[in-house]
Amino acid sequence: MQIRVSPGTATSLEAGSLALPVFSDGQLDDATQGIDRELEGAIADIFASGEMKGKTNEVALIHAKGLPVKRVLLVGLGERAKFEPQALAKYAGTAVRYLGKRNVRSIAFALPLEAQHQVRTSASFVVEGALAGTIDSTTYRTEPDKPIAIEELILVSTAGSHGFEAAALEQGIERGRILGEAVNVARLMALTPANDMTPTHMAARAEELAKEFGLRFEALDEERMKKLGMGSLLGVSQGSDEAARLIVLTYEGDPNNPEKLAFVGKGLTFDSGGISIKPAENMHEMKYDMSGGAGVIAALSAIARLKPKLNVIGVVPASENLPGPRAVKPGDIVRAMNGKTIEVINTDAEGRLILADALCYARELGATKIVDCATLTGSMVMALGHAATGTISNDDGFVKYFLGVANQTGERYWQLPLYEDYSIAVKSEIADLRNSTGRPAGSLTASAFLQNFVGTTPWIHLDIAGTAYVDETAYMAKGPTGTPVRALVALAEDMAKVRAATKNGTPAAART
Ligand code: BES
Ligand code: MN
Ligand code: ZN
Repeated sequence: MQIRVSPGTATSLEAGSLALPVFSDGQLDDATQGIDRELEGAIADIFASGEMKGKTNEVALIHAKGLPVKRVLLVGLGERAKFEPQALAKYAGTAVRYLGKRNVRSIAFALPLEAQHQVRTSASFVVEGALAGTIDSTTYRTEPDKPIAIEELILVSTAGSHGFEAAALEQGIERGRILGEAVNVARLMALTPANDMTPTHMAARAEELAKEFGLRFEALDEERMKKLGMGSLLGVSQGSDEAARLIVLTYEGDPNNPEKLAFVGKGLTFDSGGISIKPAENMHEMKYDMSGGAGVIAALSAIARLKPKLNVIGVVPASENLPGPRAVKPGDIVRAMNGKTIEVINTDAEGRLILADALCYARELGATKIVDCATLTGSMVMALGHAATGTISNDDGFVKYFLGVANQTGERYWQLPLYEDYSIAVKSEIADLRNSTGRPAGSLTASAFLQNFVGTTPWIHLDIAGTAYVDETAYMAKGPTGTPVRALVALAEDMAKVRAATKNGTPAAART
């Protein structure tokens, strides 16, 4: 897909459609008023008739007879006073999906004047959202649903008497393309059914991306894991004929710096529950149980392209969880890499078991900060629904900083507590820990379990069970969302920026 900046006025562009943002106050800025005059008042008419109110993701299509741009699609951005650049990803995704399904091949995007103070960021959101809009979940059909085949995206740099600086737009386009492509890498991996996305496939995909973008790749096999004492991960994998892998991606952006940020992602390629088997209803969705791992692999691929001055590793334990004659049984006791013994109360609480060894390994590799992400608990879906990712940490400074960065990416993160009570709940009668407790605070007892494997390293746990995949929206197809790729990438970028600013003697940098 070609993406470029055009200095021309919006309506003079040769494009299948112009996308034009409008707010719910119905006020048209001077650039939009100019376009409205060329459309003989069609935009004003749409608002006057109540056909559209400018609410978020509302659309209205106008055929622009006689203008080089063939159509104008009004897209609602909601309340003007609440505008944030991250809304532009949804704006662009909505336009791409609406127009793409109607055979439009090129779209010019106008930016609202409100975006003028954050041109690079705004352009990045538009491109990221537009790319996300192109993915459809029907790729396995012999005849996929009306394919969205956008060939060209144009960002319009003139807005009436105002202008958006072309260089900043170009930078934003570049960043948005890298991020949007990474988001789609994660989504397509998660969308792939478990028969085509085994631990071996996951490792192969990670290797492919590592080669393409320049990351160090390694995948430990079961023999290596056994030597390292990863009895917890191997316990989960032993019920399946598919061999587990521990995927490690390394990005060295600041070789002389001992700081190392580790992303650890649950790569459970199919979660049947094991011997504690799940009910059949919705079990097929457990092919998405590797979304955290896919997110980590995709985030590393974006980081390799964006090149922040920071060292980042990605660690992905990949395994299936199946019942069978060799499967781990309720009551079995396994031993993790750090020596802790775990009573397996419920074989369906397998995410924490594979993460336990992966977290130990991340520390072994020298991680100085850890962020893990996992579709870990059904309780999280009960607690926050699909609206936000539950965020749990052993370090208040790190998590507050993370929330500030992550909540500006278009993804939502909400902190939950890690009280001592939950640590007490995960103690076992017979072993050091048990992998399942009663129903209360299921997401937080799971977090307290994981805490046993991070020592004193500042650590954030992201439970993406409710946010990794959702129903169709105006701006994205049903299925995987790519959460938490945006937040992980933004965190790496921001940490590099903060460090650069602190090195120069200036206090922690303000974000631009
Ligand atoms: N992968 C599931 C969690 C999940 C459930 C993610 C629904 C997305 C939607 C996880 O492995 C699991 O089964 N967790 C159990 C833990 C319980 C047995 C302690 C759960 O949440 O029920
Ligand atoms: Mn499970
Ligand atoms: Zn699971």
